[in-house]
Amino acid sequence: APEIPAANVKAHLDQLQSIANANGGNRAHGRSGYKASLDYVKSKLDAAGYTTSVQQFTTGGATGYNLVADWPGGDPNHVVFAGSHLDSVSAGPGINDNGSGSAGVLEVALSVAKSGYKPDKHLRFGWWGAEELGMRGSSYYVNQLPSGERSKIDAYLNFDMIGSPNPGYFVYGYDASLKSLFEDWFTARNIATEVDTEGDGRSDHAPFQQAGIRVGGLFSGADYIKTAEQARNWGGTAGRAFDACYHRSCDTTSNIDDKALGTNSTAIAGAVWKLSGGGSTTPP
Ligand code: PHE
Ligand code: ZN
Ligand code: ZN
Ligand code: ZN
Repeated sequence: APEIPAANVKAHLDQLQSIANANGGNRAHGRSGYKASLDYVKSKLDAAGYTTSVQQFTTGGATGYNLVADWPGGDPNHVVFAGSHLDSVSAGPGINDNGSGSAGVLEVALSVAKSGYKPDKHLRFGWWGAEELGMRGSSYYVNQLPSGERSKIDAYLNFDMIGSPNPGYFVYGYDASLKSLFEDWFTARNIATEVDTEGDGRSDHAPFQQAGIRVGGLFSGADYIKTAEQARNWGGTAGRAFDACYHRSCDTTSNIDDKALGTNSTAIAGAVWKLSGGGSTTPP
């Protein structure tokens, strides 16, 4: 799998910040900055050769949008799916939450195209609307998916906040093999991980999991406080939140740890390649 340079991911974050600046300071569901964000991501994917579709839904009295991108080819009966929510809260531009996951997944998708990767399995990527209203977009997507399509999804990987400024390296623990896949990746790079507890049921993996789909993911921390032991393992500041700007107006491009952003984005690529490449280490 390719290395994903933090600079490439940050270039998308700069674009999302500009979009927020030009649209009242946020990229929230029902606001113009949300649709502009979606149009940005879609244009990059279309130019790279993805088959994209925009799914509309209504919630909170406004139209919401999901974006789904399929990489042509691969076994359609075995789908590896990575996704992230693209909406912010209305208080700010939502650069760590969740420009970071959205940009990381986007850059991994673009790296698939750039490297001419021909996976054994089918690759799909998703950007969800209205997560901040209660995972409305991802719930809508899963609910409308016929059961025959659900069972073709080998794994759904979720990325919600991967560049926290005082970062931790948390791995979702719901599925043992997807947990190990990420843990092994970090261990090989001498980075300590912990199983995520802050995120339990609080992001777009939840609807997939409830539908019986195996889920995994990464998280760099929100408003929980970094302990002294965590600061010894990961650096940063003990006694301070992983992201002190969580859901605030200061969640801007300044609110990102470049190293966490690049490392986690490269871990996404590692997981996508490994899960889709076939062989005995991949799940059924
Ligand atoms: N889903 C939360 C949000 O968007 C963020 C979060 C992600 C919190 C993962 C905990 C774990 O606000
Ligand atoms: Zn399969
Ligand atoms: Zn949030
Ligand atoms: Zn979030």
